[in-house]
Amino acid sequence: MGGTVVIKWGGGLITHKDKLCTVNQGVIESLAEVCKNSNKNLVIVHGAGSFGHMKAKKYRLADGRIEGIEQDEAVQDVRNDMLELNQIVVTALQAKGLDVKSFPPHKWAKGTGPNFSGNLPIHDGVTVVYGDVVDDYVKDFGILSGDDLMLRYATELSGVERAIFAIGEVDGILRVPPSKAGPDDLIEVWHPEMEFEGEHAVDIDVTGGIGLKAARGAMIASKGVDVILVNGEIPQRVSDAIEGFPVIGTRIVLGNC
Ligand code: IPE
Repeated sequence: MGGTVVIKWGGGLITHKDKLCTVNQGVIESLAEVCKNSNKNLVIVHGAGSFGHMKAKKYRLADGRIEGIEQDEAVQDVRNDMLELNQIVVTALQAKGLDVKSFPPHKWAKGTGPNFSGNLPIHDGVTVVYGDVVDDYVKDFGILSGDDLMLRYATELSGVERAIFAIGEVDGILRVPPSKAGPDDLIEVWHPEMEFEGEHAVDIDVTGGIGLKAARGAMIASKGVDVILVNGEIPQRVSDAIEGFPVIGTRIVLGNC
């Protein structure tokens, strides 16, 4: 049995981000196949995409309780939508014969951002968690991003070999927004002092887009864990990243190395 690898399946990768509650079933199945073929202990953190951001944005759930807006139903709806997406992910992994257990964060985590509270649940087989609407001490509720779960799992579990962010549509962090990028614009090694012009769909995204992944990736790297962003639409790259082989993507390192 290999060591532990913590991997994010980005919401923009596993769903169609602009169509409410629609999954990218082909991608989910190919990612599940990659997991089946690995002998690592896997922790999978999945994002929300169109199962989370749209309604959360409309009802301002990331801001917490706001007087004058009826938000309770939306909190429930988004939690249910995320349970539905999570079930699709879990079913795809189980269909490959994997022993999977999922831990919905609204049941065990409280607070948002990197310092949320709650003991990180872990399963002997494949552990699955996801970005969710969680209770919050101050705001009543809020959005806990999968990127913050990545940070905590990658840095607090023992024996983590690397953290991988599998993302949709791009090969990693690009120097310019994807719409303007050419083949030479992939940043192969990124460190926090380097600037990039990330495209963040603030109109639909209630968490941090590529910028949050880069920031959390840097925090993970600062604890000595390897971090790589790869194009999750190309299964071989995800597989190579999990096994620690050289792969096209963006490695996040500390300082100018
Ligand atoms: C967001 O989680 C959770 C909700 C909006 C409910 P993430 O921040 O991990 O989601 P993606 O990967 O950007 O979709």
